[in-house]
Amino acid sequence: MAPRPLCHADLPAVATIEAQAFPDPWSRQAFAEMLTHQHVCGFGFDDGEGTLVGYGLCSLGGDEGEILNLAVQPRARGRGVGSALLEAMLDWLRGQGASCVFLEVRPSNHAAIELYRRAGFSPLGVRDGYYRRPREDALTMVLELGAEEARK
Ligand SMILES: CC(C)(COP(=O)(O)OP(=O)(O)OC[C@H]1O[C@@H](n2cnc3c(N)ncnc32)[C@H](O)[C@@H]1OP(=O)(O)O)[C@@H](O)C(=O)NCCC(=O)NCCS
Repeated sequence: MAPRPLCHADLPAVATIEAQAFPDPWSRQAFAEMLTHQHVCGFGFDDGEGTLVGYGLCSLGGDEGEILNLAVQPRARGRGVGSALLEAMLDWLRGQGASCVFLEVRPSNHAAIELYRRAGFSPLGVRDGYYRRPREDALTMVLELGAEEARK
């Protein structure tokens, strides 16, 4: 299976996975609102039976991309779904002319940091008290898409 565009019909499954993945989840309405924006692109990943097991959302502002959200159903983790969704978002952002991509991640989220690091992201800085429930700083990471191409 491969990532495919996320659509409105996915939102109930997205909200379920979101609630399993994050202590402070986005609401279904927040996802619905996000998907109305032209500068936002969402991808979903289905298992062999057509059930959504992961999703990712990214946005473009000028030539800067941002990874807004990425989550995989707990039972489907460790099988490459997260990295496939991240690559789909990076491909979309490249196609839109992004030169760099930013994201925020909890410093305690070692799995996600490792996923991003393997995709070429580097630590950029810290945003004090960025997250709530529980309160935690955010680690900001950046990927220079040109530099990433040169690295390959
Ligand atoms: C982070 C997350 C999206 C990873 O999804 P996944 O489908 O399990 O990731 P993949 O199987 O594609 O793993 C890709 C790489 O990430 C790293 N990684 C993934 N899970 C890891 C873990 N538990 N510990 C350490 N590294 C891990 C590994 O380097 C892995 O490569 P490898 O399998 O060759 O070792 C998933 O754990 C998740 O949904 N977590 C909760 C939500 C979340 O934290 N989202 C990110 C918010 S910024």
